Amino acid sequence: MDEIKIKEVVRKRYAETVKTGGCCCSPAAPGAVSDCCGSGPVGAISPADEVIASADLGLSCGLPVNDAGIKEGDKVLDLGSGAGVDVFRAAKVVGRDGLVTGVDMTPEMIAKARENARKGGYQNTAFKLGEIEALPVPDASQDVVISNCVINLVPNKKRAFQEIYRVLKPGGHFCISDIVTQGQVPESYRKDLDAWAACLSGAVEKEAYLGLLAEAGFQEVEILRASPYGPEPEDGFGFESITVIGYKYLP
Ligand SMILES: C[S@@+](CC[C@H](N)C(=O)[O-])C[C@H]1O[C@@H](n2cnc3c(N)ncnc32)[C@H](O)[C@@H]1O
Repeated sequence: MDEIKIKEVVRKRYAETVKTGGCCCSPAAPGAVSDCCGSGPVGAISPADEVIASADLGLSCGLPVNDAGIKEGDKVLDLGSGAGVDVFRAAKVVGRDGLVTGVDMTPEMIAKARENARKGGYQNTAFKLGEIEALPVPDASQDVVISNCVINLVPNKKRAFQEIYRVLKPGGHFCISDIVTQGQVPESYRKDLDAWAACLSGAVEKEAYLGLLAEAGFQEVEILRASPYGPEPEDGFGFESITVIGYKYLP
C-alpha cells in the first residue's frame, strides 16, 4: 500500500470532519458499539468542560486519560490529537506545572484545537502540526504518551511505536486506545482506502500489534480494556477496541 496515498486520504477525511462532525472513526460502520463514539455525554458545567464537549468530535474509541495514570506536573503527549479532547482532559490532571502537547498531521484539526484552547483559556496545552512517524518532540522529554483511535490509521506502525519509545523519558509509559482485528483480514479489504480512513482496514491483528510494541522495547505491555467494535464479525474477521499500556524501563 502507498503510504503517501493513505495519508492523503486520511488527512482529507479528517479535514472534512472538522467541518461536518462525525460519529466514531467509522460513520460507515453499521452496528458500532457504545464504547465507540467518544466517551458519552460530558456534563457542560464549566467553560473548560464546555470546551472539552465541543472538542469531542465523536472520533474516539476509548478513554485513555482515565487509565493513563497521569500525575500533576507531568508532560503528556497526545498522538493524533484531533480537536484536542484528550489534551484538555489531561490538562485538568497535570495542572499548572504540567504540559500537554497534541500532535496531529491535519492542519484543520490543529487550527480547531488551538481555537478550542483559546476559548477554554488553557495555559498548559500546546498543539503541533506533525506526523507520528517523525514526532516534532525531543528525545526522552515526555512522562506519558496517550493516543485515542489513531495508530490504526498510521501505515508504518513499527515506526510509530519506535517514535513513542524515543520521546518517552526512561521510566515513562504510554496508554493507547485503538482498534485491532481478530482473525484474518482479506487483502482486498486492506486496500480499501475509505475503510482505512474509517479506522478499519488499517487496523492490524491484536497479537501483531502487541508484538510490535514489544519489539519497540516496551515492557509490561498489557491490555486494560477490550470490547467489540464496528461491524459484526464476518468472513472470519472482526474488530476490537482496546486500551493498552506499556512502560519504558529505566536503564
Ligand atoms: C480518528 S481521529 C481521532 C482524534 C482524537 N484522538 C479523538 O479521539 O477525538 C484521528 C486523528 O489522527 C490524525 N492522524 C492520523 N494519522 C496521523 C499521523 N500519521 N500522524 C499524525 N496525525 C495523524 C488525524 O488527522 C485525526 O485528527
